[in-house]
Amino acid sequence: MIEIVPSILSADFTRLGEEIARLEQAGVKMFHIDVMDGHFVPNITVGPPVVASLRRITRASLDVHLMVAEPERYIGAFAQAGASQLSVHVEACPHLDRTLRAIQGEGMLAGAVINPATPVAALEEVLELADFFLLMSVNPGFGGQDFLPQTLRKARQLDRRRRELGLQSPIEIDGGVTLDNLPDIVHAGCDWVVAGSTVFHSPDPAETVAGMRQIAREALSVRV
Ligand code: DX5
Ligand code: ZN
Repeated sequence: MIEIVPSILSADFTRLGEEIARLEQAGVKMFHIDVMDGHFVPNITVGPPVVASLRRITRASLDVHLMVAEPERYIGAFAQAGASQLSVHVEACPHLDRTLRAIQGEGMLAGAVINPATPVAALEEVLELADFFLLMSVNPGFGGQDFLPQTLRKARQLDRRRRELGLQSPIEIDGGVTLDNLPDIVHAGCDWVVAGSTVFHSPDPAETVAGMRQIAREALSVRV
C-alpha cells in the first residue's frame, strides 16, 4: 500500500484548515510538515505552534521533517505539539543513534533522512533502529524543484538492503514528485510519497491525490 503524503509547504496558508479537512475526507492518512531554520537549509518555515494547530483539526498522522541544525533540541517541543513522527537529517546529527532513540523515547516514530549527495550507506548503522527512512529527491529548502533521478537508484538500493535484513520500515521520498515520475518511484520500492506543489498547485488537490493513488496502485501491481 502506497501512501500519498501531501506536504503543506505548498498549501494556501490562509485556508490551511479547509485544505487539510478536504484532503482528510478524500482519504489522506498523513500530512508532511517541513520545518526549516534558515541555517541547515536556506529557508525558514513553520514550527511547533503550526503542528499544534493542525493536531487540533485532524486525526491524520503528522509527519514532521526537521531541516534544522541541532534537531535534538526540538524533539520535546514537537512531541508536545502532537507530531506523530519526526525525521532528522543524518547530515545534521553527529549522534544520530542517540537522536533517533530520543524521538522514540517521546513516543514518536523516528525517521532518518539523507540528502541527494549522501549515500545510502550513511544509513547502514541505523537500519534496524529507525522506524522509517526518508530519501530527499531534491536538495532540501524549497518546494517545486525538479526531481533528481539518481534518487531512484538509491531507493532500489535501500529497498534491497531492507529486504536482506528482513525489515519492514517504510521508505519515504520527498521532492519533485509528479504524476509522471510516480510509477518509477513506486517501482523503485518507495512506500510513502510526499507531494507538495503537485497536490496543492493543482485545481483540485483532493482529486489529484485520488489520481495519484490510482497511478500508485497500478504501478504497485507490476512492482517486482
Ligand atoms: C523540500 C521539502 C519538501 C517539499 C516538497 O525541502 O522537504 O517536502 O515540500 O515539495 P514539492 O513536492 O513541490 O517538491
Ligand atoms: Zn519535506
